[in-house]
Amino acid sequence: MTDTLQTPPATPVGAPLAQVGVAGGSGAMFDRIAARYDLLNRWMTFGVDQGWRRRAVRMLQATKGARILDLATGTADLAVVAARQLPDAHVTGLDPSEGMMAVGRAKIARLGLVDRIELLTGDAQALPFDDASFDGITMGFGIRNVPDRAAALREMARVLKPGARVVILETSQPRGGPIAWGARLYMGRVVPWLGGLLAGAPVEYKYLHESTADFPDPQAFAALMTSCGLRVLDVVPLLAGVAVLHCAERPRD
Ligand SMILES: C[S@@+](CC[C@H](N)C(=O)[O-])C[C@H]1O[C@@H](n2cnc3c(N)ncnc32)[C@H](O)[C@@H]1O
Repeated sequence: MTDTLQTPPATPVGAPLAQVGVAGGSGAMFDRIAARYDLLNRWMTFGVDQGWRRRAVRMLQATKGARILDLATGTADLAVVAARQLPDAHVTGLDPSEGMMAVGRAKIARLGLVDRIELLTGDAQALPFDDASFDGITMGFGIRNVPDRAAALREMARVLKPGARVVILETSQPRGGPIAWGARLYMGRVVPWLGGLLAGAPVEYKYLHESTADFPDPQAFAALMTSCGLRVLDVVPLLAGVAVLHCAERPRD
């Protein structure tokens, strides 16, 4: 499927992270790893990432005929899960990386979901949608890459219907104890090694570790969601805290 994609070459080993090209949420870094992104995800998480996506969609509690927005949709894994779990829903995926979405579009066509999922180029910080136009929003492993997270969260609150939910799935750093030590070792050493081996992109996969370390802890991120006009309903650590689900709603006025 991905062999025909024109993916730009990965960043050479030893290039500084500043040159990886994630600044501005352009998606440039993800264009370089798009062809191998899904494969790496399955290997890195031993397949549990798909279970996390299914749980994220369940937390939406979307009703029949829902209009769902999947931000930072990438290769559309979360959009596909949403379309399958919510058979009457229409899913819009949005992402700045054309390379990731090319993989996503091929997947959507292969699965016969072209009538249910559309993918649009865009930036979570400035959404091209009317106020109160969605019944649910998901964002998987995306908010970490957005330079102005508060702007993105305010946009989510704006385009959600009152009472509708947003569920954000993001990697996190378990704090303290042997699990935290093991997770840091795995993310800091094993994942960049796997990224080099399977995708030729060790620098890009080192970014995953460093951006996770820089990301606010779950309580601080929940406070940010609240300050952006969302009511936090649940914060669920996954696999001893290596990932977290944040569920919130746009309060009814
Ligand atoms: C780690 S991938 C996640 C893909 C997918 N959601 C998943 O569950 O696997 C992160 C995605 O965030 C996208 N991204 C980066 N900056 C963004 C922004 N400002 N707005 C929306 N998406 C952005 C990247 O292009 C990339 O596809």
